Amino acid sequence: MSKHPVGEPLRASRGITAARRAWAWARRLGWRPVVTLVFALIAASADAAEVPARAAIASAHPLATDAGYHILQQGGNAFDAAVTVAAVLAVVEPYSAGLGGGGFWLLHRAIDRKQIMVDARETAPAAITLSMYVDSDGVPVSGATLRGGKAAGIPGVPAGMAHLARRYGKLTMRQLLAPAIKLARDGFNIDSRFANVAKVREGLLRGGVNTARIFLDNDKAPQQGHLLRQPELAATLERIAEHGRDGFYRGAVAESLVSGVNAAGGVWQASDLAEYKIVERPPVRFSYRGATIVSAALPSSGGVTLAQTLNILESYKIADARDPASAHLVIEALRRAFQDRLRYLGDTDFVKVPVAKLVDKAYALSRAASINANLATPIDALTITPLAAVAESYNTTHYSVIDAAGNRVGATLSINSWFGAGVVAGDTGVLLNNEIDDFSLGAGLPNLYHLLGGEANAIAPHKRPLSSMSPTFVEDSKGVLVIGAPGGSRIISMVLFGIIDYLNQDRVDLLPIVTAPRYHHQCWPDVVEIEPGSFPDAWRASLESKGHQLKEINRKWGNMQAVFKSNSDGSAQAASDPRGFDLGGY
Ligand code: GLY
Repeated sequence: MSKHPVGEPLRASRGITAARRAWAWARRLGWRPVVTLVFALIAASADAAEVPARAAIASAHPLATDAGYHILQQGGNAFDAAVTVAAVLAVVEPYSAGLGGGGFWLLHRAIDRKQIMVDARETAPAAITLSMYVDSDGVPVSGATLRGGKAAGIPGVPAGMAHLARRYGKLTMRQLLAPAIKLARDGFNIDSRFANVAKVREGLLRGGVNTARIFLDNDKAPQQGHLLRQPELAATLERIAEHGRDGFYRGAVAESLVSGVNAAGGVWQASDLAEYKIVERPPVRFSYRGATIVSAALPSSGGVTLAQTLNILESYKIADARDPASAHLVIEALRRAFQDRLRYLGDTDFVKVPVAKLVDKAYALSRAASINANLATPIDALTITPLAAVAESYNTTHYSVIDAAGNRVGATLSINSWFGAGVVAGDTGVLLNNEIDDFSLGAGLPNLYHLLGGEANAIAPHKRPLSSMSPTFVEDSKGVLVIGAPGGSRIISMVLFGIIDYLNQDRVDLLPIVTAPRYHHQCWPDVVEIEPGSFPDAWRASLESKGHQLKEINRKWGNMQAVFKSNSDGSAQAASDPRGFDLGGY
């Protein structure tokens, strides 16, 4: 399967200048045909024109990437930059992630090679009950997990940022949040992506809580270029800059959050916020074709599901995940890994999950034994009777950072679907998530991502809903790749392709990795989703002849952000998925 056309990455002598030049260049091209966005930073003294970049940042928005560079220039490390990028994204890409959401930061600290995942996933409030979301017959109450105060989990991003800065960073919270505060207070001109997303979610914004006055322009979706000011969000960021995590989880902001959510139908209590805790968890680590893969631990299913899929595929030695014979094997491996996701995975603070068994190579061999090289395996054995699924937009954001010293961060953060629950709580300016939808409401009841879940992912007070967010490191003889993407359950197959594509390259070129066409399978529904216009008829015919049902989705997906640092010369490069600039890229 041929890959998308590839442009030459911009490699520049000075990172900030390079970033600006790259963006200017991309705009001149109208973001097409292939927008090559390589933001490179020369750490230390960087005047020499031919010095390769040693640090790199890739994020979903140039203002966030730029702010991250400035922090590195001010002497901050990758962890500092990660706080700043998260805070700026909360302002300029509020429909994807922000203070009202959660996520996972995967860290590598160069000095002692410590690798850890900061779990800042939302938790269910103490007063949550299943009956808030299903009626007495067990039928889901329409929209209850997706819109309004009931849909929102207790946010983790502010606690995650404060932890990152305090435990791993070098600069103060005030320094790290300054760019976000300025952008929120003074405003910024929204880009076409913001305008497009707002148009799609215009109904939610008009009917939401405080969303029309903040995000709409005279009650209409704003046009590209609209100046968006968020003074209330600036004030909340100021409080976090001043008081750290307490600026959000206690005091005036917390009070306003609780009353705002509850006025919108929620059941939050002050103690839900005051007692919110991030958790440092060992990441999932496994080998694949000689490389070490490090990825998100539960409550993200990402690492376990990636490990299972790649362990199954290892014996097949597939070269190109997009040739039809290999695609069949990839789909079958995903089918089995996602089947186990549904059966076993949930928050390990609440349920026992046989992680060691699931990621064991011998277990993968036993799963692989049932794969027929010529035929798709029917899923009848799953004995599930799902209700009709509802299609909605998927969301989230990912960014990757490597600094000159080799510290790395892969962060995937989310408020779940675009503009989350459609609730900005009180006067906080904080747009709240709808991650409660990531819980399972019962056997056969799919969520937004058409994912089924089991008892392991059932709703419970203080529990974290199962996620698919998969910030990932790939370490091999060439160097280190930091990769991730938004996109709900499709994140896992996107990162899977990213790993396979990277390992197939002798000379690393990130752009083909983030631009290559995508397909996705997750066991149920038993269809293989494919991007529009990406796979030729012969490819489709080959898979259909094996019994796969293909479904072309009406828009491309993913907004992958990747950075790489070479072992041989320490040089760094970055690339952003061009899909992110179209309406796709959710
Ligand atoms: N809310 C999407 C995820 O966590 O996978």
